[in-house]
Amino acid sequence: MLITFEGIDGAGKSTQIKKLVTTLSDQGRDVLTLREPGGTEVAEKIRMILLESRHAISPIGELLLFSASRAELVQEVVMPALADGKTVILDRFFDSTTAYQGYGRGLDLEMLRSIIEISTCGIVPDITFYLDIPPEEALKRKFSAKSIPLEFDSDELDRMERSGAEFYHNVRQGYLEIMRLNSKRFVSINALEHPALIHRQITALLKQRFES
Ligand SMILES: Nc1ncnc2c1ncn2[C@@H]1O[C@H](COP(=O)(O)OP(=O)(O)OP(=O)(O)O)[C@@H](O)[C@H]1O
Ligand SMILES: [Mg+2]
Repeated sequence: MLITFEGIDGAGKSTQIKKLVTTLSDQGRDVLTLREPGGTEVAEKIRMILLESRHAISPIGELLLFSASRAELVQEVVMPALADGKTVILDRFFDSTTAYQGYGRGLDLEMLRSIIEISTCGIVPDITFYLDIPPEEALKRKFSAKSIPLEFDSDELDRMERSGAEFYHNVRQGYLEIMRLNSKRFVSINALEHPALIHRQITALLKQRFES
């Protein structure tokens, strides 16, 4: 089974994935967690360029780097793990490309669809949890976690995060549209709730969908 988590930076994806791994492992499932971009040696190097660098990267260049990282992850790790019967949890997958490079950077959505199809070998998650949060709240969380003053061009932010407030509003609108178009696969979660409550909602939903 393939479970993915989506949402803007600071929505709480990593927090929820950590909790879910514990719960599913306790139930005796063989769980593998991976993050995008990353997850293989080559993909982690691409991650460094995309997130931890100060390079200016064109929207198309950015798209292809994310897609290259994804292709490595899917072929080297995700497909073999799914074939082994593992439960794979991905911290971001191709919906992030549609939201960030499509709705955020303004790239053509049809073109994105073709590149996504190629880079994922056509794999689609069984379920996607979308953690919805206003960008201002998400940013506040990240800054308060690091105890630093809130500035949009702070060195503490990664390359994507420095894209600014308007970009993040567009990305969020993008996610809401993607969700509307994929309502069977998506589950929307109010990310402002308490982490423990969100976790209970997620486990209840998984139980309801996949154990009945
Ligand atoms: N439901 C919540 N309520 C309040 N704070 C939260 C909640 N969930 C997570 N946080 C806090 O918000 C911050 C960001 O959470 P987290 O790292 O899980 O987000 P993320 O979606 O993985 O972000 P990124 O995309 O940057 O990796 C952390 O400091 C975390 O402790
Ligand atoms: Mg995270």
